[in-house]
Parts: sequence; structure tokens; C-alpha cells
Amino acid sequence: MTIGHPELVAAIASEIASSGPIPFVRFMELALYHPRFGYYVREPEDGAERIGWNGDYYTSSDVHPILGRALARQAEQVDRLLGEPDPFTVVEAGPGKGLLARQFLTACADEFPSLRERLHYILIERSPAMRERQRQNITLRLNEPARLSWANSPDELLPDSVTGMWFSNELLDAFPVHRLRVSNGQVQEIYVDYRNGKFVECLHPLSTDDALAAHLQRLNPDWPDGYQTEVNLEALNWIKQVARCLHRGVVLTIDYGHTAQDLYGPERRNGTFLCYYRHSINETPFLRVGLQDMTAHVDFSSLAEAGEVEGLHVTGFTNQLSFLMGLGVEKMVAELEPESPAFRSALHLLKPNGMGGIFKVLIQHKGIARAELDGLQYKPFWESALAGSEIGP
Ligand SMILES: C[S@@+](CC[C@H](N)C(=O)[O-])C[C@H]1O[C@@H](n2cnc3c(N)ncnc32)[C@H](O)[C@@H]1O
Repeated sequence: MTIGHPELVAAIASEIASSGPIPFVRFMELALYHPRFGYYVREPEDGAERIGWNGDYYTSSDVHPILGRALARQAEQVDRLLGEPDPFTVVEAGPGKGLLARQFLTACADEFPSLRERLHYILIERSPAMRERQRQNITLRLNEPARLSWANSPDELLPDSVTGMWFSNELLDAFPVHRLRVSNGQVQEIYVDYRNGKFVECLHPLSTDDALAAHLQRLNPDWPDGYQTEVNLEALNWIKQVARCLHRGVVLTIDYGHTAQDLYGPERRNGTFLCYYRHSINETPFLRVGLQDMTAHVDFSSLAEAGEVEGLHVTGFTNQLSFLMGLGVEKMVAELEPESPAFRSALHLLKPNGMGGIFKVLIQHKGIARAELDGLQYKPFWESALAGSEIGP
């Protein structure tokens, strides 16, 4: 089996040759986002797609448009809470192929013309190839798309410039992670070396010492020897950046993930890191480098806590099934022909043991009082599930 995209493998090997073994987080950054050869940056050689039925994995928007429609409904409620500002800004981060944006914009045009008139939709995407795909899927497929713009990162938005709703679906699980393993009673970090034409792992003391060590101190884990897991420091920096951009409104994060207690509990001793290639999963990041996706589940407790530091308060935490139920999915499904392919696809997003339960939804707010949002009507978790993060004001 191939070790990976040849130029990418050469670029990573050359970095290791000059600096010595690199932390896994750096390896994952290069594999996914190397500025020329990274998985998300390069157009697939065979003309296929990264995301979708012809790609390596699918997301909710490939299955059925109800998530986009539910997000538009949630945005409309937030718009009313904010007093119908002009513009009402929606920021979608990590929009992939742009299908969710298209579904959101279509629902807005159909159901909420007043919001549609005032809408400014910003897509934040770091990959030029994905940005191009989004342009094609949105501007060429919608007759009158709302006011749209793109940015590479939240850095390009001014502080306090967003009044509205910021959301992402499966963005944070695509951020590079530090991988850790407990060995001889010490938490060690997995590094990557290149020997005899192959990538191999080796253990070293923690890199990025201060941030990683401080984070572990906060988690205060009690892991046995052999325990392996991941830490996503980029997600914590990200949510702080998002908080700085938001003046008034909510941030809605949908992703594979858990509370810290669950993610770092004793029964998850191998972590959640996975690779996706043509709809099959594997745990082998050192093969097909740059040709397959890599992900790890999100620690929503730490995300909530990091937001609090920047004045982004927890509104609530739920799962995709409950979120969609709160926003009227039952009626949406009732409009579909029973047992039709569209009907079955919509139900696929709701399965408690599938996408409905695995995907979690964290909503945070800033500059407004905590509101009873429709998407949070049903609560599958106790209020204290995100222990450590305050609920308020
Ligand atoms: C897993 S895909 C998301 C799929 C999409 N949201 C959907 O629902 O189909 C991750 C996307 O986030 C982008 N991305 C990753 N890191 C990013 C970052 N730091 N800033 C902006 N976009 C990023 C990737 O290029 C890719 O388009």
C-alpha cells in the first residue's frame, strides 16, 4: 500500500531530516493542510471529491438538507432576539463543499425573506481548493445568493464585528491534534520520525510545553500505563478567536465529541483518532499520507471553558437528534413521502445510535442574556454535563 502522496511525503521527510522527529500534531498539520500538497489543499488527482458519496466520508449535508433548514430556523430566532439587526451576519466556518451553506440560504429565501434581505453570509475556509468548490456549489447553483464573502481565518474579521450567528459542522474534528500515551507512569507525546522510507512513531516528553502541560494540569487525568488519547489545543485557541470577533449573538458548534469526563474516561483508553479513506476507517496515519482524512473527537468541556475566558457563555449542550427535534424536524419529515429515499435519508440524521446521538451541539452566547433557544428545548444531558463551565449570565 502506498505511503502517500509522493511530494507531500518528501516534504515531511525533509522537515524531519532537518529538525529531527516532529510532534504528531505537526505531521497531521502537514498531511491535511501543507500549503501545496495537503489533503484538503490539493484537488483530488482522480477528479473525485474529498467529502461526499464519491469521496472519503460524508457529512450531514450530503445526506439530507434538514440540518441546513434547522440552522436557518435557529438563526431566525436569534435574529428576533437581537432585534433584527442590519446586517445579520452568519459566519460558517469550515464549510467543506458548501452544501450546508446552500441549504441554509435556500431555507432562508423560502421561509424568512426579511432575514434573507439583511443577511451577510461569511464563509471561513483555509483551503483555496475548498473555497473554489464552495463558490461553484453556492453562486452557480442559487439564483440570487445573499450577500456572500469569504475569509481564510477569523483573524481577517475585525474584533466585535459580528452580530448574528457563527456556526460550524465538523470543523474542529479536522484540526491537528497532539497525541499522547502514558508510558512508565509519565504522559508522553507521540512524535513522528522517518526511517528507511517509512514514517514511524516515537515517544518524547511533551512539546509546546507550557500550553500542553497547563492543559493537562487542568484536565488532571488519572490514566493508566498504555492509555492513549488526543488533545486539540487549536480548537481552544479557535473558540477564543471566535469570541473576540463576536459582538452579540451565538456560536453553534456541531461535531463528533464528548464531555471531557467521557472523552478522557477509563473506557476510552485508545483515544478517538481515526483516518477515513473511501468510506472505510483505519487507524494508520502513516499510510496514504495526504490521500486520506484524519480526525479526532472534540472535548466540548474544554471548548466551553475556553470560551468563558473571552466572555462566551454556555447557552446549552445537546445532541443532533434533540437539536433537530427542537427546531421542528418532525414536521419537516412529515412533509416527505413515507419510505421514500428522502424520508429514509432524513431519518438517518436522527438515529440515536448514529448521527443523531454521536454529533453533539454546543451553543454559546455573548453580548445577550442567556435565551431559551428552540434548538435546546430537548436536553439529553444534565445541566452540569459540561462541568467547570459556568452557565450564564
Ligand atoms: C470536515 S470538513 C467540514 C465539512 C462541512 N462543514 C460539512 O458540513 O460538510 C472540514 C473543512 O474545514 C476546513 N478547515 C480546516 N481547518 C480550518 C481552519 N482552521 N479554518 C478554516 N477552515 C478550516 C477544511 O479545509 C474543510 O473544508
